[in-house]
Amino acid sequence: MKIGVIGAGTMGSGIAQVAALAGFNVLVQDLSEPALERATRTIGDSLARMVKKGAIEASKADEAQALISTTTVFDLLDDRDLVIEAIVEKLEAKAGLIRRLDAICRADAIFASNTSSISLTELAAASAHPGRVIGMHFFNPVPVMQLVEIIRALQTTDAVAAKVTALTEAMGKTPRVSKDSYGFIVNRLMAPQINEAINCVHEGLATVADIDTMMKLGANHPMGPLALADLIGLDVVLNIMETLYQGFDDPKYRPSPLLKQMVAAGYLGRKTGKGFSEYR
Ligand code: CAA
Repeated sequence: MKIGVIGAGTMGSGIAQVAALAGFNVLVQDLSEPALERATRTIGDSLARMVKKGAIEASKADEAQALISTTTVFDLLDDRDLVIEAIVEKLEAKAGLIRRLDAICRADAIFASNTSSISLTELAAASAHPGRVIGMHFFNPVPVMQLVEIIRALQTTDAVAAKVTALTEAMGKTPRVSKDSYGFIVNRLMAPQINEAINCVHEGLATVADIDTMMKLGANHPMGPLALADLIGLDVVLNIMETLYQGFDDPKYRPSPLLKQMVAAGYLGRKTGKGFSEYR
């Protein structure tokens, strides 16, 4: 099984890493050569961390790294059995990719999207073979987080869903299937909680640090909602809230005004060095 990953950001590099660790040949494609170089370094660092912790042998890390190649050339994805995209969260960009993949890949190749908020059914509609489009929603940090949410578009065939579920297990992850809906399952539950934590900051109810500590010690979460927002990216959280708000047309999903301001200010969390905390 040959896997292609489009987009060499945090999610794309994590997906490439877990696929290679499971023994799959992986080609990572991105338009930007520096992004590919960064991804190779990130994967190397993460594998080194796993070796240091004794989670994997050094030889296993070397094998995984050898299974990953990178390219800026889109057409080299033509021999892939499964292509997972992890590019920018824009419907038109993702639909455009699916149309381009349709033109170069075999008719039985599977196209998966790591989208956290875009309708899989709309994405599938971009393909001439919509039954082959499915969601594979990984969680950050990908090497650590066990779940992959499998999202079935209205058009996804049973055979494709079964193949992708089995493949996710082969990657050492735990698949769980959801029908296509706004925010799927995890983000529909998690993003409103983060949004409400941001409202608590906005109302001046408690400090960022205290709100995070309360949820860690009072709800046993591994990290507080504001630290999690910084990890996910505030722009991504806002995107999910807007999808829920507009999709369900329900005011209970209204994005926090402070969340909107933080995004407008470019305070997106870890990736920009500043969110609810500062990162250097
Ligand atoms: N690569 C490899 N290993 C990593 C890693 C990486 N990038 N990041 C962390 N680890 C490993 C560490 O080595 C450590 O391993 P051991 O348990 O063997 O010691 C383990 O993960 C825990 O890491 P740390 O000790 O550094 O720190 P921690 O205990 O505070 O855990 C955390 C960090 C895993 C991020 C934890 O805080 C956590 O689970 N947080 C919640 C994360 C979460 O909810 N993610 C989902 C975000 S939502 C999303 O991604 C989808 C979306 O659509 C928005």
